[in-house]
Amino acid sequence: MSEPIQSPVFVGRREEIESLATLLRRAADGEPGFAIVAGEAGVGKTRLVTELAGQAADFGFTVLAGHCVELGAEGLPLAPLIDALRTLARTTARAELADVLGPARRGLGRLLPELDPGAELAQHQGAEPAADGLQVSQLLELVLGLLGRLSARRPLLLVLEDLHWSDQSTRELVSFLIRSMRGVRVVLLATYRSDELNRRHPLRPLIASWDRLRSVQHVELRRFEPGEVAAQLGAILGADPAAGLVDLVFDRSGGNAYLVEELAGLVRGGGDPADLPPSLADVLLSRVDALSPGAQRLLRTAAVAGRSVPDKLLAEVAGVGEAEFYAGLREAVESHLLVVDHTGRSYAFRHALTRDAVYEDMLPGERGGLHAAYGEALTRDPDLAGDDAAVPAALAHHWYAALDLPRALPASIAAARHAVTSFAPAEAQRHLERALEIWPRVPDAAERTGVDQAEVVRLAGEAAYQAGAIDRSLSLFDQALAGLPAEGDAVRRALVLDRRARTLRDTGREAESVATLEEALALLPADQVTRAHAVVLSSLAASLWRANDMDATMSLAARAVRAAREAGAVQQEAESSITLGSVRGYLNADDAGLENLRAGLTLATDIGAHFTALRAYVNISDVLELLGRHEEAVEAAREGIALADRVGLARSLGAFLTGNLAESLLRLGRWSEAEQLVTRAVNAMPEGVFAATVLQLRAELAVMTGRYRDADADVRAARRALGQTRDEQYALTLLYADALAALGQGDPAAARRLTAGGLADYGGAMSSRYVWPLLWLAARAEADEATRARDRREEIPDGAAARRRELASRAAEMATPSISSRGYRALVTAELARAAGEADPEPPMVGAWSAAARAWQAAAEPYPLAYTWLRLAEAAVAAGDRQEAGRAIRQAHALASRVGATPIAEEASALARRTRLSLDQPDADASAARPKPEDPLARYGLTEREREIVVLLAGGRSNPQIAEALFISPKTASVHVSNILAKLGVDSRVEAAAVAHRLGVTG
Ligand SMILES: Nc1ncnc2c1ncn2[C@@H]1O[C@H](COP(=O)(O)OP(=O)(O)OP(=O)(O)O)[C@@H](O)[C@H]1O
Ligand SMILES: [Mg+2]
Repeated sequence: MSEPIQSPVFVGRREEIESLATLLRRAADGEPGFAIVAGEAGVGKTRLVTELAGQAADFGFTVLAGHCVELGAEGLPLAPLIDALRTLARTTARAELADVLGPARRGLGRLLPELDPGAELAQHQGAEPAADGLQVSQLLELVLGLLGRLSARRPLLLVLEDLHWSDQSTRELVSFLIRSMRGVRVVLLATYRSDELNRRHPLRPLIASWDRLRSVQHVELRRFEPGEVAAQLGAILGADPAAGLVDLVFDRSGGNAYLVEELAGLVRGGGDPADLPPSLADVLLSRVDALSPGAQRLLRTAAVAGRSVPDKLLAEVAGVGEAEFYAGLREAVESHLLVVDHTGRSYAFRHALTRDAVYEDMLPGERGGLHAAYGEALTRDPDLAGDDAAVPAALAHHWYAALDLPRALPASIAAARHAVTSFAPAEAQRHLERALEIWPRVPDAAERTGVDQAEVVRLAGEAAYQAGAIDRSLSLFDQALAGLPAEGDAVRRALVLDRRARTLRDTGREAESVATLEEALALLPADQVTRAHAVVLSSLAASLWRANDMDATMSLAARAVRAAREAGAVQQEAESSITLGSVRGYLNADDAGLENLRAGLTLATDIGAHFTALRAYVNISDVLELLGRHEEAVEAAREGIALADRVGLARSLGAFLTGNLAESLLRLGRWSEAEQLVTRAVNAMPEGVFAATVLQLRAELAVMTGRYRDADADVRAARRALGQTRDEQYALTLLYADALAALGQGDPAAARRLTAGGLADYGGAMSSRYVWPLLWLAARAEADEATRARDRREEIPDGAAARRRELASRAAEMATPSISSRGYRALVTAELARAAGEADPEPPMVGAWSAAARAWQAAAEPYPLAYTWLRLAEAAVAAGDRQEAGRAIRQAHALASRVGATPIAEEASALARRTRLSLDQPDADASAARPKPEDPLARYGLTEREREIVVLLAGGRSNPQIAEALFISPKTASVHVSNILAKLGVDSRVEAAAVAHRLGVTG
């Protein structure tokens, strides 16, 4: 074999290597690194990366690399990921591979079947994902998990080359990893050709956004200086080059490393540097021209295949005898124009620049003929393409380039179908739009493809939707509708309308979505029930729900469930049951809703519809929470989170469920557990509403514990994540956190403004859950402001009485479907009494606060309960009832301290100090005031805690219920109960309750 023309030594690039090696060292310590290496074609990006990869391997890194390929013959979406996975599969022992792949195996196996050998090859027919098929976002999360597991073993360098040729899914992957990698030992290094990015290149805005991140290092490779050219040339030629030669080569190559090599090759082949050809392409081609005609023909044949071509395919298309074939091949390899690629069975151009030059230099007729020959060969025997190449995309490309439109058309549609299963909806859309462009030129298009044009348009609309090109998808759906025959298939039209309506719903155009679905429904035959009915009805229920029309949602969802059942449409039955159950659950807070939700969950689980199942978990845990069944809500949320983890939805629906879980824990008083969970979820970097859900919960926790600055930061972050979303569950919860913080920091006027805004903007039936807490804070702000004015002997602020009346009437109008809403109503009443501050208020202050305390005891929520006890103590002091005051202040203080509600605990201590109430001795304060009233339980010697429990026993509460009401464990409750039975001298809790009733201690 001839001497290589590649420099055996690595020239220059000291600083670049140094700064990239720093990233490696940091990554080894757990801080992920990102680098982008840019530069013109042939300047030396790959060589730099290779050099770095060598160092990384020496440091003990795993190195996985892959490159994007031009979206032509080999247009394989996610190609660099597939390359990297292939290396992983081939360098990892089977058992270990299964471990690192973990839950990602199935999804990644769709990209590279050898990862998931057990799976049946997906026989994917439609160009739409299955109802709940894996989506790109899930794939990304699965890859993230894989990188985490891999890097837990050894640090990892992941190289993704040539992003200028990337498909949309690859770009999404890189962006996602840059945004989401935290605490993993990974360096992600991407390269791109800076001279390929024209103004409208889709990579441009992404690069700009990465450049704004300090964590991303951007290395711009420049051309070599004369000294470096001399070093490179010397290393290649094996001797110091003459000064004249260096000048000449520098002049002709401009310092581009690749051209230096090619020029060195020319010189060594005996060419005279003085007669070097004038243009770049000519420089590259001059070495090709030196080959025999047979070898040149072979090179041209290879160039048409793309950057690399399997030997069998090349032989087939070349169509020459074996001896001639191998002779030509050997010549091309010896002159370093072709190289054997890493599989050992394919040939690649040493450099894409030369391939392009050869390809461009061909005559159009020869080029077209060769494309057609590739098309024929691959149609005859797809195995020629090698193991996992994307034959459908290759065929589409070759037939189109051969201008054989009748064959390009079905090939494009097949390529689109393949792209859909390979997580590449944007590529699918591109293929379908190409098919649409060809369609009118192919007279028998429908016969060849087996579909009509409107169907292709619809498929394109669906692909565009999946790819996130919403506007495009809407106009494609409109075009599909326009293309459907006016008479005839109403069902088909209805189903396209359904897709259009879903797109509208997803973009917040609910009213249009509802109208579109009503139009679809009207098209369907009234005298029968088909799958189409089930589809349209279930969509309509979902759109009505999003449009906040609860009554209509309820009746439509019920109808949709019936229709789906009748038509045997399981997916739709599951969806509609969940919609129905949610509305019922939220509106009536009863068990009927839960039953529907659970039925939906079972159906969805049976058919493996993960999104739908997760939707069920979200709503089940939420409705249980609303019903005050916190423990069960925790359970449901946990189950859902486990599912989300398995299917790559941890950062989306999983984050949502974590929000639900943490909310239940918060209401249960398990704040540190809640805090840990949400912090972990926030660190996993969810986005949009999913980020907002966990951030707002953490903000609420922070306010309640008195960490106002943390709360403020989370509220802001949540609002940023939400963008334009005005959904009440976020908007009102964030306002609540803000207002609570304002009150905690002694700014009731600010709290008043914040709550007034929220109360004015929101009011539907669904909002009541979020409006109630806000209404409480509004009333509390009035009370705090009025109390302060009275303390300072100032005027009560203007309009206070009118505002109180308004708040009272708002509270009177609002429904109280849940236990906690009844608690809030009682709080509002008590706060408004406090605000009015009359000497002899009606209802009496102590009574109002005790009522609120009872309501919150029933709801078993520590935060409002501790607060209420605090105010009850205050009111009791004012009314001269020191015994009541003492008990309330102790309860407030103990509960607030236990859950971590520092501001309330502190306020309770302050009140106790001011009023000389004792926080730990039940008897001290009573003796300071009136004599004790007759205590019927006195002679039994019960402790204060036991007295509380007797009251609950008298109310027929079980041990778990007692535990929940008093924030103690069921075990502790049962110990107390046994002690009480012994002290009362009875054998059962029923008897104990009877004693309590007889003595009149029933709370
Ligand atoms: N620092 C270097 N020392 C020695 N040779 C180099 C150096 N940089 C590049 N080369 C040589 O120049 C040729 C082109 O370099 P390389 O393939 O890295 O370019 P590239 O920037 O990756 O180009 P493309 O954009 O086409 O992928 C290679 O054969 C490589 O060996
Ligand atoms: Mg390169």
